[in-house]
Amino acid sequence: MYDNTSEESLKTYTFAPDLKHHLTMSKLKDKVIVITGATGVLCRAIALNLAENGATVVCLARKKEAGDALVKEITDKGGKAYFFTTDVTDIEKLKKNREEILATCGTIDVLINGAGGNMPGANVLPDQSLLDLDLDELRKAIDLNLYGTIYPTQIFSEVMIRNKKGNIINFTSVTVDRPMTRVIGYSSAKAAIANFTKWLAVEFAQKYGDQMRVNAIRPGFYLTEQNRSLLTNPDGSLTERGGKIINMTPMGRMGRPEELCGAVLYLCSDDSSFMNGQTITVDGGFETYSGV
Ligand SMILES: NC(=O)c1ccc[n+]([C@@H]2O[C@H](COP(=O)([O-])OP(=O)(O)OC[C@H]3O[C@@H](n4cnc5c(N)ncnc54)[C@H](O)[C@@H]3O)[C@@H](O)[C@H]2O)c1
Repeated sequence: MYDNTSEESLKTYTFAPDLKHHLTMSKLKDKVIVITGATGVLCRAIALNLAENGATVVCLARKKEAGDALVKEITDKGGKAYFFTTDVTDIEKLKKNREEILATCGTIDVLINGAGGNMPGANVLPDQSLLDLDLDELRKAIDLNLYGTIYPTQIFSEVMIRNKKGNIINFTSVTVDRPMTRVIGYSSAKAAIANFTKWLAVEFAQKYGDQMRVNAIRPGFYLTEQNRSLLTNPDGSLTERGGKIINMTPMGRMGRPEELCGAVLYLCSDDSSFMNGQTITVDGGFETYSGV
């Protein structure tokens, strides 16, 4: 069985060696794709894959060093990428990003709202009850995940509305329909994103036509920095919770970041031009398994 609990597994994505040949044939050629949280584990793999498929990738993240390194990795291989520092909970920074993107790339074709994650402070632990839930922490989790999706969508879709053409991809979670124990802030924010995705899909298509669409990606479990200590022990073995997740995943393992890329590529490309308000789940069967 593939061991994806190791440090190495977080860095498995490698760029195609013959990128330039690939780019001339690409479906994403000339598409400007903005990715928030681009230096995170999943979105980094997605950024590399989209650049490999010809997109101009605009990486937005908080840490300049990691963003610059990602852009260098892409441009060294002949891909097109830019990095701008952002904070998805800060409207003024996002407005500045919009101007930076328009000045460098001229437009925005696709927005991938990747920034987000669980915040341990907004969990209710086994020895706690709802009465212990820290409401300030809950608000922070909702600010990052829900508002951190709505703000960039509102600010960057101004360009799409003007063009009557745009494509937005949100990130939800398998905890939307089957909430996981402990994780209240993150789950409720992701559930709201799932609803927002459907609402916006209808809103945009009805008001601006069939070139505007909004969909979501729903990853199952992928080992990242934010869930590593919940799912694995310091020696790399699974925690009890990690073991339960694997037992509930028919494929018997966690996902590898590159395994999300095909679904995102499909949503970004015109191959999915009639797809609107939908969610693609990539979870090794977790969502579909009854446990029996
Ligand atoms: N890893 C999983 O198993 C899993 C499962 C379901 C959904 N997701 C979702 O996938 C997306 C990517 O997460 P990941 O697993 O790669 O985790 P990650 O922690 O590696 O990436 C998340 C990124 O978001 C960034 N971020 C956090 N706050 C930010 C802010 N205020 N402004 C801008 N960026 C900010 C982080 O710096 C990080 O780079 C998230 O929305 C996450 O909720 C992940």
